[in-house]
Amino acid sequence: MYKPEENKIIKDARNCSYKEKYRPQFHFAPAKNWMNDPNGLVYYDGEYHLFYQYTVNSTTPDFPHMHWGHAVSKDLIHWDELPPAIAPDEDGAIFSGSAVADLNNTSGFFHQEGSGLVAIYTNEGNQVQSGKPQVQSLAYSRDRGRTWIKFEGNPVLFPASETADFRDPKVFWHEESSRWVMALAARDRVEFYTSEDLKAWSFASEFGSTLPFVHRGVFECPDIFQVAVDNDPNNKKWVLALSVGDQNGENMNDPQPPAGGSGMMYFIGHFDGHSFMPDKTIASIHDIQWIDYGSDFYAAVTWNGIPNEDGRVIWIGWMNNWRYATVLPSLEWRGNMSLPREIQLKKYPEGLRLIQQPVTEINKLRNPVTTLKDLVVKLGDNPLSGATALKAEIIGEFEIGTATEFGFKVRKSSNQETVIGYDVLNEAMFLDRTNAGSVDFHSDFVAKHTAPLKPEHKRIQLTIYVDGSNIELFGNDGSAVITDLIFPDHESQGLELYAVGGSVKVISLQINSMNGVWERGSGAI
Ligand code: FRU
Repeated sequence: MYKPEENKIIKDARNCSYKEKYRPQFHFAPAKNWMNDPNGLVYYDGEYHLFYQYTVNSTTPDFPHMHWGHAVSKDLIHWDELPPAIAPDEDGAIFSGSAVADLNNTSGFFHQEGSGLVAIYTNEGNQVQSGKPQVQSLAYSRDRGRTWIKFEGNPVLFPASETADFRDPKVFWHEESSRWVMALAARDRVEFYTSEDLKAWSFASEFGSTLPFVHRGVFECPDIFQVAVDNDPNNKKWVLALSVGDQNGENMNDPQPPAGGSGMMYFIGHFDGHSFMPDKTIASIHDIQWIDYGSDFYAAVTWNGIPNEDGRVIWIGWMNNWRYATVLPSLEWRGNMSLPREIQLKKYPEGLRLIQQPVTEINKLRNPVTTLKDLVVKLGDNPLSGATALKAEIIGEFEIGTATEFGFKVRKSSNQETVIGYDVLNEAMFLDRTNAGSVDFHSDFVAKHTAPLKPEHKRIQLTIYVDGSNIELFGNDGSAVITDLIFPDHESQGLELYAVGGSVKVISLQINSMNGVWERGSGAI
């Protein structure tokens, strides 16, 4: 039976009903206040740590006083929100960064314990060297992340020249070279540094200065990790994932994330512990691969320390977009995380592509509600007219027929709906949130997002997660993804399965209601 850490769990979390309007029921959001990027993702001693950019006492970001919030989980699904882990001080605010398990005490911080956690983060607003407000610092924990001690030698890394953008260190242990590697966002490029002890860092190389475009949004939250191709452990590739900040609108030829605002791109190649070499020449912005075609998946980074026996590459993203992040209509908190997702690489005729799927741990939240098989749907039919979905998983496989468009309407009422479907002629999956509910808090929120998706053997598979104020849509087992926030009324729970322009065959359809993760003790660990 699941037992939250009652004595340590943050008071706000103990007092929270988790039933407020728009509250996600199986996605992590703090009980109160503002949250952005995931930070310090590390698995250590049986626990997954999730730190995040956190503003205490406010639902809007207070950048000069940014903290690392903290939650822990044993299964990536049920989270205990602990007190904020790292607070700002005279070195500056605590911006994004990573954490590692220093298993061999390379840092020298853990003489008694033998191992412990080290956080590597950006101090913003640092005044040690003028013109260099962003520097990297360390904190360490000898008690499984519950308390943190700042390193007296902070900051440990300054930019070589004056710049306002030098941040978001992602540090990991590079097995082949037996060294720590840091990927750091430095305005229009990623810089790599190496270290033996996490304290002294040497510049290794940069990636980005020769890209054939200048992106208006700066790079943020870089990550680099190795992934097996088609699940073959003997064929691994490196993926460099970059977040690109919201743009200021000068040069319209610059690459924009598909849904606008802030978004994520990736490159596949080789990393030798020193430099990253992309497999493909990037000749123009059309060679850029985007990670998500919705507008609300940002700053995703992978967990460090996943045991070799597990071997998965897992990340989580902030479900939001800087374009409108600060005006979302939730009242008690602002911002939530995506589901943790497993990353794979798959070979397609057009090349290697990054695949994302929610971790299988999510399956234990399922309660089967409806199953359909071999059903033909045409204009005017709604085989789901009696069904509802408030927190649900919908898995449908379709065989392309004469319909030009088919799909689902979710969170539906007489005047609200979110349309999720497939456009046969344009070979694209889409999510239309134009009438999803509250949309008028920002003009760019009203949108239909599309993602290229080719049928495989004439079939399209859609997996949809519907929660209090968000949708995650995975096409063909995660080869295309649309992640979008929506803000429907609680009463909008209706479902529709529809087809237009002809008929479509539903090969199979499964609808599962999902247990809420805040309902302590239900379907838990
Ligand atoms: C990305 C980001 C990071 C920065 C943090 C500040 O969303 O802008 O670059 O460290 O948020 O909260």
